[in-house]
Amino acid sequence: MTMDVHPYAAAYYRREVASMAALRPTAFGSLALSRESGAFALADYLCRVGRPRLRAVPVLRLGGQVWMSLTPMEVQSGYMPIRLARGRVGTAGLGLGYFVQRALRKPSVEQVVVCELRREVLELYARTFGPHPKLELRHANARLLRGERFDFFYADMYRQLLTPQAIDDMATLCGANRIGRYHWWSIEQMVLEVVCAGLGQRLPAWMRATYLPFLRLFAEHAGARAVEVYGCGAALVDELDQHGLLDRALARPPG
Ligand SMILES: C[S@@+](CC[C@H](N)C(=O)[O-])C[C@H]1O[C@@H](n2cnc3c(N)ncnc32)[C@H](O)[C@@H]1O
Repeated sequence: MTMDVHPYAAAYYRREVASMAALRPTAFGSLALSRESGAFALADYLCRVGRPRLRAVPVLRLGGQVWMSLTPMEVQSGYMPIRLARGRVGTAGLGLGYFVQRALRKPSVEQVVVCELRREVLELYARTFGPHPKLELRHANARLLRGERFDFFYADMYRQLLTPQAIDDMATLCGANRIGRYHWWSIEQMVLEVVCAGLGQRLPAWMRATYLPFLRLFAEHAGARAVEVYGCGAALVDELDQHGLLDRALARPPG
C-alpha cells in the first residue's frame, strides 16, 4: 500500500478541515456547534509533540460537554478508515459527520450506512449536509446490527482511545454480520502496543500489512520530537489475553 499523503502534515489537516466548511456555528436542542481557536490538549493521534495553536476548529458539544471536535488528532485517526472505505460501508456513529462526508466522496464507495444513537446528532447532520444518494442514516444502536453485509465497517462510538469494549464490539459485530474489513477507532494503537510488547507475530498478516505503513508515518512524525507517546504497554495486551478478547477479535478471516 502506498501512502501518498502524510496524515500528520499540517497541510493535510488544513485541507481536511477546509473540506468541512459546511460546519458553521449553530445551536440545536442540547447540541451546540462552534468554531474554536487556541491551544488544544491531545493535539496529535498516538503522541504529543507540543501544543500547537489551532484556528476555527469545529467543536460539537452536547449539554455543554465536548462530544466531538475536529482536532488534528481526530483527523489523523480518521485517515485509515477513510483510506480503507470501499464498496458498501457501515459506520457507528455519526458525530460531526467527518468520516461520512469523506467516504461519500470516494468513487469506490457505493453506499454508506450510518447507525447513530442520538436523534439530534442525525438531525444536525441532515440540516448541515442534506441528503446524498449513497447515504442511509439510521437512528439505531450499532451494537444490535445483525445479518448485514458490509465490505468495510468503521466503529467510532467511543469516548476513549483503546478501550477493550471496542475489541468486544468487533468480535460481536463480525460474528453477527458479514464484514470484509473492520476498523475501530484507535485500532492502530492496539497494533503499536502489540508490536511494542514483542507480540507482533501474533497479529494476522493482513493486520500488519494494513497498519504498519501508517505506523511508519507516525514514527516519522513523532521521531525524537514526541513529548509523549500514548499507550499502556503490555498491560492492555495482558488484559485482552485474560478475557480471550484478542484471540476472538483476530480469529476472523482476512477481508
Ligand atoms: C466520536 S463520534 C463519531 C465521529 C465520526 N466518526 C466523525 O467522523 O465525525 C461518536 C458517535 O457515536 C455515537 N454512538 C455512541 N454509541 C453508539 C451506539 N451504540 N450506536 C450508534 N451510535 C453510537 C455517539 O452518539 C456519537 O455521535
